[in-house]
Amino acid sequence: MRASLSLRGRVARWLLPPLLILLAINAVLSWLGARQAVNRAYDRSLTASIRAIAEQVHSLEGEITVDVPYSAFEVFEAGVQERIFYAVFAPDGRLVTGYEDLLAPRAPAEDGTLLLAEMPYRGEEVRIGAMKKRLYDPALAGGDAVTIVFAETTESRIALARELFFDSLRRQLLLVGLGALMLALALGSAFRPLVELRDAVQRRAEDDLTPVPTGNVPSEVQPLIGAINHHMERLSAMLAARRRFLADAAHQIRTPLAVLSTQAEFGARQGDPGEMRRIFESLLTTIRSTRRMADQMLSLSRAEPANGLIQEQAPVDLTAIAREVALELVPVALKKHIELAFEETGAAPMTGNAAMLRELVANLVDNAIRYSPPDTQVVVATGTADGHVVLAVSDEGPGIPLAERDKVFQRFYRILGQGGPDGSGLGLAIVREIALAHGGEVRLADAPGGRGLQVEVEFPRRADEVAQA
Ligand SMILES: Nc1ncnc2c1ncn2[C@@H]1O[C@H](COP(=O)(O)OP(=O)(O)OP(=O)(O)O)[C@@H](O)[C@H]1O
Ligand SMILES: [Mg+2]
Repeated sequence: MRASLSLRGRVARWLLPPLLILLAINAVLSWLGARQAVNRAYDRSLTASIRAIAEQVHSLEGEITVDVPYSAFEVFEAGVQERIFYAVFAPDGRLVTGYEDLLAPRAPAEDGTLLLAEMPYRGEEVRIGAMKKRLYDPALAGGDAVTIVFAETTESRIALARELFFDSLRRQLLLVGLGALMLALALGSAFRPLVELRDAVQRRAEDDLTPVPTGNVPSEVQPLIGAINHHMERLSAMLAARRRFLADAAHQIRTPLAVLSTQAEFGARQGDPGEMRRIFESLLTTIRSTRRMADQMLSLSRAEPANGLIQEQAPVDLTAIAREVALELVPVALKKHIELAFEETGAAPMTGNAAMLRELVANLVDNAIRYSPPDTQVVVATGTADGHVVLAVSDEGPGIPLAERDKVFQRFYRILGQGGPDGSGLGLAIVREIALAHGGEVRLADAPGGRGLQVEVEFPRRADEVAQA
């Protein structure tokens, strides 16, 4: 089984990875932004330094003079000691003053605009600025523009950018942390009603099946509680039915036992062997009917879905089952001078539990024989009709009045003054239980001849057989 993830875990799994990716993207952007802002500020002082030098470059009759002002070396931020380099080159490329190897990465434009770049110089990263300045001295060789190059190391720029970057990163982490904390708190408060509900359910008595109160539960969870409550309602109805059945069953068993002991006591007092034999015979009758009742109770219990036996279903042919049962009961029918006929219109394929279906047919045929007068006919018929498998058992007996047709399905219900004393009133309840477990239904109708009862049971036909038909 897959371990189920907690809701907190799920939220974390959905939120954290994208949040971390966003955080990483934001960090890169913050770093670039900080570098840009720092460069903009520092470049202003770099530009001022170059222009200050440029102002002090003059040429007179081919002789270039530079008077580098002290102000050119004032760096943007005191604090850090940046190293500063400069060079002035004559139009023909000759060094006028400064560092000879300090060359701009490419030639600056003639119009005096400043070229700014970053590059390594003497093993260090420097920010370099370069510009040309025209001196309007016709005596100069190779044009009249000198090139001024100025560079400073970038340590303090990077230090400041780093400071700005970590500041903003700290703020972001703080925000994300606060957000996560608030989310955890919100989830905690959202789950509190569920935790309370769990405690309430755990505190319940074992047999308490009253509905769980839904008052404080979030609306998303209410349908779940509703479904559980509905299930509990059915459970408690089922338990109540069980309790009733147990009470009824105990009562039903007590009656024949009382009769048995009376008969036995009475028999024990008899001296006449003939009288004793007669009492033994009635004892046997009572024992037989008590046994029948015990058997019927067992059948009913086996047919109940809760016992799981009925779930063992396989492809079966109802026609074959009904034929077998009818054949077995022919001797019983003959004893009562009843003709038992079997009619079929071919196989009746369905999915079912063969033993239970046999039980169902046997109960119906048993009723038909038991409640019919001698010299009548009982017909067992099977067939198929539009997607259904049908079983019909009809007789020429007294039938069941309309008003009683619902009641006869109740457990232990018998119509007074009908049939012998040896019925338990469970037969039709068993029939209905088995039919329901097979997705079928039972109907009581007048028999076709106008006299007697016809019981019809309809089952869904086997799916693959329907497809072929
Ligand atoms: N074919 C029938 N014709 C007339 N009445 C019937 C018929 N089948 C059932 N009944 C009536 O319905 C009642 C209930 O039938 P059910 O089969 O449930 O119980 P039972 O036959 O009395 O007992 P058992 O559990 O032994 O079958 C019977 O007592 C009988 O009065
Ligand atoms: Mg019966």
